[in-house]
Amino acid sequence: MSSFKDLRIVDNFYQTSAYFPMPTVLISTLAEDGSTSIGSYSLCFPYYIAGKDYYAMLLECRNSSNTAQNLLRSSVCALNFIEDSRADFKEAVRLGFPGESSAEKMATCAFKLEKGQCEGERPQVLSSAYQVFECTWVSELENAAEDRARIGLLEGVDPPYRSFNGITSKFGCHFILKIDKILMKEKYRSAIINGVKASSFPRVPVDYGYRDSKSFWYTRFRRPISEPIPKGKETDLSSVKYAANRLDPEVKFTDAACAMLVKVPHIFLKMALQGCVDWAKENGVTLIDVAEMNIINDKRSEYKKK
Ligand SMILES: Cc1cc2nc3c(=O)[nH]c(=O)nc-3n(C[C@H](O)[C@H](O)[C@H](O)COP(=O)(O)O)c2cc1C
Repeated sequence: MSSFKDLRIVDNFYQTSAYFPMPTVLISTLAEDGSTSIGSYSLCFPYYIAGKDYYAMLLECRNSSNTAQNLLRSSVCALNFIEDSRADFKEAVRLGFPGESSAEKMATCAFKLEKGQCEGERPQVLSSAYQVFECTWVSELENAAEDRARIGLLEGVDPPYRSFNGITSKFGCHFILKIDKILMKEKYRSAIINGVKASSFPRVPVDYGYRDSKSFWYTRFRRPISEPIPKGKETDLSSVKYAANRLDPEVKFTDAACAMLVKVPHIFLKMALQGCVDWAKENGVTLIDVAEMNIINDKRSEYKKK
């Protein structure tokens, strides 16, 4: 017998039929008059994370919102991630109340804004955000740019709908947002570059969405803890050596370099070795030793040199 009860899946299942942890993102966009407008969003997740020509986020929102209308028109936005503060969350809930124009909402906006770092006409960013993704809507995907002709239909959009980019239902919209820049406060940036400690994480709240038709629920930040990867899963050194030295006729690995790869999960080993070989070819290296492995492993070494 199952230890679970079945639950009906209804609209907005992530908050009506589930407990789903989400970020709190204040999205700034350009209003028609060029001013910055801010809306609150949680359904905003990484979409293209590797292996494409660019990195992208996915935003799910109401197509009549100021944010959707502004994105359809101007394509640019900034995703401002806010820290745990009751006052800031209260303001996020105010900015998340539907039906107000940008001008009405922004007249009393408590957040300080500043210029971002992308060129061209862009919305301002939140000075208190711990990180900001400046983004551009990829309107070419699924020919979604055609949905610009449907701007201003605020009472519901008639079919046809797109599958994953642009107007996707009567009231819904999805935006695939290319990340142009990630801006971060110095303290958190330096933790990413030099190695994180529990004390160097931003104080990120977890949003659980709008429940009981009354309130937004969220949990306050708690200090993160780390869990090392399982012991005893290392690949045998001789298997690494065998795979490493038959990959390319010109690039060879020392035993010490191979020893640095024994913790790579076996299914990723060939890919990791190929990455090393590619790096060696680009840099005119024919023997990969510990020093070379250190450079390859340290994807951020260029930042550190600076
Ligand atoms: C914390 C929070 C998260 C929200 N997340 C979303 C979301 O992911 N998608 C959405 O369509 N609306 C979301 N809303 C509701 C929007 O904020 C609301 O539709 C608002 O009117 C949007 O503002 P805008 O019209 O200025 O874009 C959220 C509201 C709050 C307070």
